[in-house]
Amino acid sequence: MHSDPAAASATVSAAAPVVLIEAATRIYNSGENEVRAMDGINLSIGRGEFLTLVGPSGSGKSTLLHCIGCLDAPTSGRVFIDGRDVTTGLSAAERGEVRNAKIGFIFQSFNLIPVLTAYENIEFALQIHGGQTAAQMRARTLEVLSLLGLESQKDRRPNQLSGGQQQRVAIGRALVKKPALVLADEPTANLDRKTSDDLIALMRQMNEQLGITFVFSTHDEHLMRHARRIVRLSDGRIVGDEANQTPSAAHG
Ligand SMILES: Nc1ncnc2c1ncn2[C@@H]1O[C@H](COP(=O)(O)OP(=O)(O)O)[C@@H](O)[C@H]1O
Ligand SMILES: [Mg+2]
Repeated sequence: MHSDPAAASATVSAAAPVVLIEAATRIYNSGENEVRAMDGINLSIGRGEFLTLVGPSGSGKSTLLHCIGCLDAPTSGRVFIDGRDVTTGLSAAERGEVRNAKIGFIFQSFNLIPVLTAYENIEFALQIHGGQTAAQMRARTLEVLSLLGLESQKDRRPNQLSGGQQQRVAIGRALVKKPALVLADEPTANLDRKTSDDLIALMRQMNEQLGITFVFSTHDEHLMRHARRIVRLSDGRIVGDEANQTPSAAHG
């Protein structure tokens, strides 16, 4: 996939892949109908990748992202996050701990908490995560606000922020606990073209600056051009996996 050695060394370290999926199948039983939402998925995602899952509605993008995100588990097969098997012998609570420690999410409508300021929305993710002193959480939250150019907006609530600024807060919240992986399931589905492009560009900038792995899904052929790797799904199977040598530029 990364045939260009320079690109490979920049994006993939020698360590275990961030995500490794082996022969994963997810079967839903709705009445007498059996749906194979994932059907024999094998996928390895290296550290620092910027990958998009594309495919029509119903092709299994969300199911795969939920399994990667430890929100669901395959019916058979295995999922490893950062080398740890999150499928075999793990309770839902233990899976939740892995999710909390390793994974940040960007939601479709951002899901910011309306009564909290930008600062508080980001710091809240650290409070849930636990394990840090108040001073550490404050320093880290301010660092992320600065990284995203939000210092002067830090005391505003979501309804006092532009759409683009709300996106930045949502990305900040996903990044603040230094996750190994950030997942976004059709994050631009409710946005216009320009705002969508800006969101993906900002995700890519964070990917390049911080080396955090991003996986997002879209059914929008235009948006996938921003990704460095494009994995295509159809009927729960991977039907394409291409490196994108010339992703659309991130905004400067
Ligand atoms: N909770 C569920 N119960 C039954 N079928 C489901 C459920 N979730 C998804 N599916 C089915 O699994 C298939 C894949 O769905 P999904 O992963 O949501 O695809 P996508 O995100 O690409 O639209 C579809 O046929 C969908 O109807
Ligand atoms: Mg979906």
